[in-house]
Amino acid sequence: MKRKTFLPGLFIVVLFLISNIGFSQNQIKNDSTPDRKWWKEAVVYQIYPRSFKDNNGDGIGDLKGIISKLDYIKSLGVDAIWLNPIYSSPNDDNGYDVSDYRDIMKDFGTMADFDALLKGLHDRGIKLVMDLVVNHSSDEHEWFKQSRSSRTSPYRDYYHWWNAEQGKPPYRYSLFDVNHDAWRYDSLTNAYYLHYFSRKQPDLNWENPKLRQEIYGIMKFWADKGIDGFRLDAFQFAAKDTTFPGFPKGFEKNFSQYYAMQGNLHGYLQQMYKEVLSRYNVMSVAEGAGNTLEDAHNLVDANRHELNMAYAFDGVDLAKPTGYSLPHFKEVFSRWDSAFADKGWLSIFLANHDQARLVSRFGNDSPQFREVSAKMLTTFLMTMRGTPFYYNGDELGMTNAGFTKIEDYRDMATLNEYKHQKSIGADMDKYMQRIAFECRDNGRTPFQWDSSANAGFSTGTPWIQVNKNYKTINVAEEEKDPNSVLNYFRKVVKLRKDNLVLVYGKYTLLDKQNPDTYAYTRELNGKKLLVLLNFKAKVAAANTGIDLSQAKILLGNYSHPSNNGTLQPYEAVIYELK
Ligand code: NOJ
Ligand code: CA
Repeated sequence: MKRKTFLPGLFIVVLFLISNIGFSQNQIKNDSTPDRKWWKEAVVYQIYPRSFKDNNGDGIGDLKGIISKLDYIKSLGVDAIWLNPIYSSPNDDNGYDVSDYRDIMKDFGTMADFDALLKGLHDRGIKLVMDLVVNHSSDEHEWFKQSRSSRTSPYRDYYHWWNAEQGKPPYRYSLFDVNHDAWRYDSLTNAYYLHYFSRKQPDLNWENPKLRQEIYGIMKFWADKGIDGFRLDAFQFAAKDTTFPGFPKGFEKNFSQYYAMQGNLHGYLQQMYKEVLSRYNVMSVAEGAGNTLEDAHNLVDANRHELNMAYAFDGVDLAKPTGYSLPHFKEVFSRWDSAFADKGWLSIFLANHDQARLVSRFGNDSPQFREVSAKMLTTFLMTMRGTPFYYNGDELGMTNAGFTKIEDYRDMATLNEYKHQKSIGADMDKYMQRIAFECRDNGRTPFQWDSSANAGFSTGTPWIQVNKNYKTINVAEEEKDPNSVLNYFRKVVKLRKDNLVLVYGKYTLLDKQNPDTYAYTRELNGKKLLVLLNFKAKVAAANTGIDLSQAKILLGNYSHPSNNGTLQPYEAVIYELK
């Protein structure tokens, strides 16, 4: 008798174990939810290592600093972290200029620190996604040193060169150069090299099969260490037409049309998939999704064997100093959702290290509305379909620093553009106002841990100033308050993790034209949730036509959430509908 009851129990345990092994191997066997994957269900927390936590007092965040905060990261309930580049770099662009892809940046620590970090994350069940910066390297990378040394160097074709006796190369626009000129003359070999970003970031020549093999080798090196994914920096620009045809005058106003998804980019990704991605249990995400929905699909459709997901900029680019239109915002997110409703997968984000702060750009960072609008935006990010990529500090409602002096800025691109604007006689007050709102340094000020000196980030002088509001906006303060932005973040992350409908459920936009409120449902396997969000600093109604009297409130950012669709300023409510 006993034995009989024991056996089914054992059977269930074995089944459970098998299903969990499935999970860790990238596949989740399950119910009627199609095509489950860990990277679809994950909440990814982005850490900007330079600004997260400084362990040795030199004013620069480091790996040991991150290790010291692993329990905090775990407490957020996130599944994976994405680390901005931590490879050796002269830091022209804070690590996006790599001089050795197999070593750790001195400022950040050692390979032993990295191994300890990876283990610390894995011990806590958290995955690690690494930035892979291979559209370009640093000009201090050994490959480039060799490449520039002679026209006959075996490394010459690792980069793009244009011999000067052919005349000046056809104009290419550089995003970061003082003169916006992407060709840099190098007298050593009387030739120009190409750099879409800064002069210290020469573009790698993906058309060279040897270069591609080098990169796959680097990817395997990290995958063998056990990392869980790659974020491919600027990869949509990697392939080029190496005959360098002339582009029409003014092309730089829409350079992405000429730079993104060129040549054999898809072929290179398929090769990368075959040689690396398919052989390891790693996820892949591309920065940039091309110029059209079709481009985006072609990157991520599983049958094509390229990447797992991409992130498009249409949404994050909407915020302007003059504000943004909510109907436009809804239109963008709804269009992308419907294009990927049946096939493919995207990420959801409104902030990262290349942007000013979430609450300052998309919400309202005034003392009255900062907390509530930060929670509302977080609710949006955690209730859409797609994998949320959430930027460190936004869970505290950190705000723009709004520096007023150019000396306070550190971002090379901003400083170069400042010089450029000055050289063309631009209105510099206007430029300073613009960067106070949108410069990415706003999102890079030190993480605010507590109210001690330098927000508890460093005992030295931070590489960039701490935001003046750190005494009130910091982890220690917010831990004490059950209604803080931080504790709300934890709740909404948990809600997403507990409700697969928020990951995979069908999205339906309601009350489309409403200029103030955003309303949508998510549906899966008979479960239906309704999300109401007020994007304005005034009371506004969501006219969904849904009777809310029977609805169950799952979470809201006010102590008495709306039960009739009339929303307080920046109110967010998630309901379960009967
Ligand atoms: C995109 C990265 O996110 C950004 O920080 C960097 O400056 C450029 N790519 C160049 O690598
Ligand atoms: Ca340090």
